[in-house]
Amino acid sequence: MITDSEFQRIVSYMHKNYGIDLSQKRVLVGGRLENYLARNGYASCAEYMAKVENNPGGAEATDIVNALTTNHTYFMRESEHFDFMQKTALPWAKARAAATKDLRIWCGASSTGEEPYTLAMVLMDYFGLEHSSWDTKVLATDISTRVLEHAARGIYLKEDIDPLPSKWKQRYFKQISAEEYQAKDVLKNELIFRQFNLMNPLPFRKKFHIVFLRNVMIYFPNETKHQLVQRIYDCMEPGGYLFIGTTESLDRHKINFQYVQPSIYRKQEG
Ligand SMILES: C[S@@+](CC[C@H](N)C(=O)[O-])C[C@H]1O[C@@H](n2cnc3c(N)ncnc32)[C@H](O)[C@@H]1O
Repeated sequence: MITDSEFQRIVSYMHKNYGIDLSQKRVLVGGRLENYLARNGYASCAEYMAKVENNPGGAEATDIVNALTTNHTYFMRESEHFDFMQKTALPWAKARAAATKDLRIWCGASSTGEEPYTLAMVLMDYFGLEHSSWDTKVLATDISTRVLEHAARGIYLKEDIDPLPSKWKQRYFKQISAEEYQAKDVLKNELIFRQFNLMNPLPFRKKFHIVFLRNVMIYFPNETKHQLVQRIYDCMEPGGYLFIGTTESLDRHKINFQYVQPSIYRKQEG
């Protein structure tokens, strides 16, 4: 059983290192960590937390992120964003990148891959026959190595891929068992998966045309969220589009982005 002071230690570690506010998640933290500690033979939570804190790159630090992040996602989630991509964001981005044919899209909390794979299919659909002459690879990042491994394998249950149009299922997935489908290489090759902590300085050399940052800032305190959005603004092309979760909101006085419609923002066009 995790004590109050152990819980506070975990809350402060997760907030300091990953921006995640777990202060109201006592049951979730207890449930997930108590299981983990028992399975891995720790005598106490303090013994485990000492290992986590003293070795930031170690297995224990990786495990606590894998255990305490919430990774719920699904194909075609908030599909109005993909309609907006087709109709508005991609025509703009295609015109903007016409000289280089280098379209840069970042999915900043990609979880188990459903979101960036959906984006890649939207892109291939939009570009059609022209696609082979463009670089439209989607950078998909997350802090959890567990979900990134899942995403890179690209294996999903039959019911997971159900929301996809049938032509996409046929074109981009192969059945590998009675219940499972796997993304084909033609789709996998459109993604680059990397571990990245959104609290770290953004290391990108080139600016993005489109950023998806959906359903992750709900875990961050308000101040952290607005600071992150400002940093993202700086790594976007003028005119670039930012998508956040449809149940999320930003304080317009605290950001430079222009409001386009609920959950869609745009950097001032240069
Ligand atoms: C609920 S999922 C959202 C997935 C997807 N964007 C969607 O909308 O369906 C939130 C993801 O954010 C990731 N995450 C949380 N804190 C993070 C951080 N500091 N840096 C990067 N990813 C983080 C979690 O690991 C999790 O996979």
